[in-house]
Amino acid sequence: MLNIGDSLAGLLRDSGSQDGPPIPPRWLRARTGTAEALHYAEGGRAALQELEGALAHTGASLQDARSVLDFGCGSGRVLSVLAERLPASRLQGCDVDPAAIGWASRHLPPIGWTRSGFLPPLPFADASFELIYSLSVLSHLAEADQDSWLVELARLLAPGATALLSVHGPFAFDQFRKGVASTAWCPPSAFARGPLGDDEFVFEPYARSLWNRAELGAIEGRFGLAFHGADYVRRHWPHALEVVTILPRAVSEWQDLVVCTKAQTH
Ligand SMILES: C[S@@+](CC[C@H](N)C(=O)[O-])C[C@H]1O[C@@H](n2cnc3c(N)ncnc32)[C@H](O)[C@@H]1O
Repeated sequence: MLNIGDSLAGLLRDSGSQDGPPIPPRWLRARTGTAEALHYAEGGRAALQELEGALAHTGASLQDARSVLDFGCGSGRVLSVLAERLPASRLQGCDVDPAAIGWASRHLPPIGWTRSGFLPPLPFADASFELIYSLSVLSHLAEADQDSWLVELARLLAPGATALLSVHGPFAFDQFRKGVASTAWCPPSAFARGPLGDDEFVFEPYARSLWNRAELGAIEGRFGLAFHGADYVRRHWPHALEVVTILPRAVSEWQDLVVCTKAQTH
């Protein structure tokens, strides 16, 4: 259904007639899960506040971050807001989606935009970022690919610096299990079981359909919905990063946020 308020806000934003950074067209916004213009813009600001709050757990401050990587940045929903806060910092986004990166590089030029591969490496030097964050990316990857990215993000993180990485935790799993949340790309039967165990990692690949076959392509079976129990993260992630704390439902009250650092000795 056409939402007049949304369309108008989108038009105003897209034409730069309102305060705030430009926002992408609806079809690109939809890929982040927030198609409505106002939700997209406000969601970016809210997410940045959530990240800033989480940073306090390592004693770091957003204001001090001179180099920041947004892993799986989409069209820059969060980076565009961050650029207003940190005009003097080196800000970098990467994403596998060429359309999202193409739009961002045309409309948000002061930020560095890189189209990345589905798997590492990224074209950045070791220890080149003082802050790395990633929203709604590890919540979609199979375990082996998650592991490769954790090692790569650790390589890019400066010693002692912070990574903030969102995952679906037990709350999100329960919402799917109880049918409160659903996706046409995973059958409800995938969740016909008890709650997510603390020590569990559950991955349910998206089923191929007419709608997603172009996007899934070669990554079929490796992209879907991933869920992380807190003990699993604490036990498994230290092969790459130190887990400082896990903040339940810290992202949009939906995903958990894993606060990590890289040991000074790495
Ligand atoms: C739900 S969107 C979130 C986008 C952005 N983080 C935000 O919060 O607005 C997930 C993003 O992850 C990207 N993505 C998925 N797998 C990826 C991978 N292996 N490497 C980099 N980006 C990936 C998708 O292209 C998509 O833009």
